[in-house]
Amino acid sequence: MKVLVVGGGGREHALAWKLGQSPRVDSVLAAPGSAAMEALAECHPHVSVGDLDAVVKLAREQGVGLVVVGPENPLAAGIADRLRAEGIATFGPSAAAAQLEGSKAFAKDFMERHGIPTAKHRAFEDLSPALEYVAQLDGRCVIKADGLAAGKGVAMCESTADAERALREMMEDRRFGEAGRRVVIEDWLEGEEASYYAISDGERFVTLAAAQDHKRLLDGDRGENTGGMGAYSPPPVVDQAVEERILERVVRPTIRGMAEEGHPYVGVLFVGLMVDAAGDPQVIEFNVRFGDPETQPLVMRMEGDFAELLESAARGELDPAASMGWGEAAVCVVLASGGYPRTYATGFPISGLEAAEAQEGVVVFHAGTRRGAAGGFETAGGRVLGVTARGESVQVARDRAYAAAAAIEFEGAHKRSDIAFRALGRS
Ligand code: AMP
Ligand code: GLY
Repeated sequence: MKVLVVGGGGREHALAWKLGQSPRVDSVLAAPGSAAMEALAECHPHVSVGDLDAVVKLAREQGVGLVVVGPENPLAAGIADRLRAEGIATFGPSAAAAQLEGSKAFAKDFMERHGIPTAKHRAFEDLSPALEYVAQLDGRCVIKADGLAAGKGVAMCESTADAERALREMMEDRRFGEAGRRVVIEDWLEGEEASYYAISDGERFVTLAAAQDHKRLLDGDRGENTGGMGAYSPPPVVDQAVEERILERVVRPTIRGMAEEGHPYVGVLFVGLMVDAAGDPQVIEFNVRFGDPETQPLVMRMEGDFAELLESAARGELDPAASMGWGEAAVCVVLASGGYPRTYATGFPISGLEAAEAQEGVVVFHAGTRRGAAGGFETAGGRVLGVTARGESVQVARDRAYAAAAAIEFEGAHKRSDIAFRALGRS
């Protein structure tokens, strides 16, 4: 079988790496892929993620047996519907089901209808009632622009003044564009964040594992929010009791509810959670695709046949008893360009990649690199590399990832030095 991976970042590099290991997979294609992915996949750099016609054409012409969609935007635009209409097995939800991520208001109303635990919320389309509502709250709240704002349309407000400022920025100034036409205002949840992953074929599901990412730029979870500065799996906050609650209170009712409402959910359900001190999970958000960089440690831990699992889900033939088998732990440390997540320069040569990958248990996934004039890789994005290592404990995996990351250099490189600290602090 030929598998087509849609996307070209660190997550897609990791997906292609794992899918290519399956005995069922003869070749991996990627659209657009990346220079680094060429080692694993036939890349089609002129087929961009947003060009649905070109992706469908490529899949048809190449006789692709399974398409795995990386990012959310093409899913929200209906890429899975288009591919399925051509009879091509596709791992990823329909546009209707992708609203679980694409519309925060849809997700919140869905959770309310199905009794899924989440922060209390109200949605507003006009500024003045929104201002009145925050004035009644006693300060702390979270304000989110509805729609896809690339993870940035979230304001954590400590006071009524913060909340007013955020509302005006979103609704009056349209800081996040059309995503700010409608805002959701919700209670601020306390606890520890984690994410949980399950695969569904629309009816049944198979659990994957939990992970924890580090969204803030600086050590100790300080600084600006980023796309993710590192991630690891498994996070101790999701122990067996918490996992059972996540399955019973969130995953099962979500898959059932989506089917009942006529939008069966096919793909990976990525649940962003807050786990409180009593171990009760509340949903912060749903995502309809794999996390980036959480996928990098997840695939490193995975032992089973990933392509078989995704293909059976895409075909509606998931075996709920299928189990992937998981290695003990994996940690991913992101190396980012200096200045990220704001402005940064690119084109700096990267050294030490081979020395890093020669180390035990290490794979370096490329998020934003390209071939330089001298033939080596150079920086080409904000997040540049995800140095990922597997090990018999989070501590071992982390030490390996950091030893490998230390071998890699490029001008202005920034990394956090405390990835996985919540796992190490407690055991
Ligand atoms: P979202 O885009 O909804 O994932 O939000 C981005 C980040 O904001 C989350 O990963 C949390 O760190 C934080 N966040 C969002 N909603 C809440 C909430 N209701 N309570 C506490 N933190 C939140
Ligand atoms: N790392 C968070 C995300 O992929 O949304």
